[in-house]
Amino acid sequence: MSKLVVEGGVPLHGHVQVSGGKNSALALIVAAALAEGPCLLHNVPDEIDVHTIGEILRALGVKVEFRPDRNEAVIDGSTLNGFQAPYELVRRMRASFYVAGLLLARLGKAEVPLPGGCSLGSRPVDFHIKGFQALGAEVNIAHGLMQAEARRLTGTKIFINRSSVGATINLMLAASLAEGTTVLENAAKEPEVVDLAIFLNGMGAKIRGAGTNVIKIEGVPRLSGTEYTIIPDRIEAGTLMIAAAITGGDVWVEDVVPEHVRAAVLNLQEAGVKVEEEPTRLHVVAQGRPRAVDAETAPYPGFPTDLQQPFVALMSVAEGTSIVRETIFDRFRYVDELRRMGADIKVERDTAIVRGVERLTGAPVEATDLRAGAALLLAGLAASGTTEISGVEHIDRGYERLDEKLRCLGARIQRVVEPA
Ligand code: UD1
Repeated sequence: MSKLVVEGGVPLHGHVQVSGGKNSALALIVAAALAEGPCLLHNVPDEIDVHTIGEILRALGVKVEFRPDRNEAVIDGSTLNGFQAPYELVRRMRASFYVAGLLLARLGKAEVPLPGGCSLGSRPVDFHIKGFQALGAEVNIAHGLMQAEARRLTGTKIFINRSSVGATINLMLAASLAEGTTVLENAAKEPEVVDLAIFLNGMGAKIRGAGTNVIKIEGVPRLSGTEYTIIPDRIEAGTLMIAAAITGGDVWVEDVVPEHVRAAVLNLQEAGVKVEEEPTRLHVVAQGRPRAVDAETAPYPGFPTDLQQPFVALMSVAEGTSIVRETIFDRFRYVDELRRMGADIKVERDTAIVRGVERLTGAPVEATDLRAGAALLLAGLAASGTTEISGVEHIDRGYERLDEKLRCLGARIQRVVEPA
């Protein structure tokens, strides 16, 4: 167990490199196992969630080798032979459910525990399951387990009720080896979906329309190994931009696809932060205290729910009152911790009313999920005095060396390893 001890009040300065996208990596590592030969992935972030997905694949017989020093992974699905995903691993992370699409496509049989409730409230997988059924799988749910079987999946038209990144990805995995053509309507348009389509096409899949809300997947009999570089992490990029803004800093965020973070950039600019775009980097320069801005989370290209918590941390020190509406998940539990640092935030159902205070004050706080952890870390950077953040493993799940990167920008953060 570690905690982060932050001495706030230092404006961040310098250049910082964004890692490969976590959510993209999780999808692409599973997709790689659809091939009957090895795939080499570059720009793989060295994060707990990424290792967890690797462990799940290993438990199913896939060869997975991570080379964290080079941010590479080699995945060889030719040895895939198990169809039962272990509960102990699957329960750690919702994206584990992607192995259901993989197993149905490759083996025609999958037993995958349902991802349980988590600190983001109820997060069902009903769209994934309805999609598998539409593709011809016989699905049984009992004792917290999804058992699905189909001799070979058959392409069809599937309307996904609500834009869902996970369901879109899982059904793309399943449909890529199906008989005939699958059309996903109301598909998610997130960059991770596009990254997956490009990668799968490199393996021999026939996917068109990714990035729009209609994706057509013409099933192919087999996929082969390939080499691919994962897109930069747009949420990490946004988090680093907000870190620059909240500390009154001047930071170059390097290795970004600017259009992937457009909504965050617009919100920051509206708050009075100067953000200049270059083709692969952003220059973020705070102009004194930010102004309050209203924001609402939405599917891509809207403002991402994964940046809601860091943005609320920024708004908690803004001039004026900001209204932040969360439309995707139940994601406001961390607000209690921000309040302990002096933030003035009232939550009414899906909306946070954030009255900016001049200064937050350091306090011991606990990270209860990944993005909440990031928000508390950013709040700690801006606060006067010392903030001690426990539950750091949540931050490590999905940010590669975030504290180290912030330290390189001048932040005073110590990682203290506590005896178990
Ligand atoms: C992914 C991202 C997560 C991000 C989220 C929204 C990964 C690993 N995680 O999560 O970081 O916050 O997209 O951008 O990529 N829903 C259902 N039934 C389903 C599936 C989803 O009701 O079967 C609902 C969810 O509860 C949520 C909404 O649809 O309210 C969108 O969820 P979804 O896009 O599926 O999120 P994830 O893929 O889990």
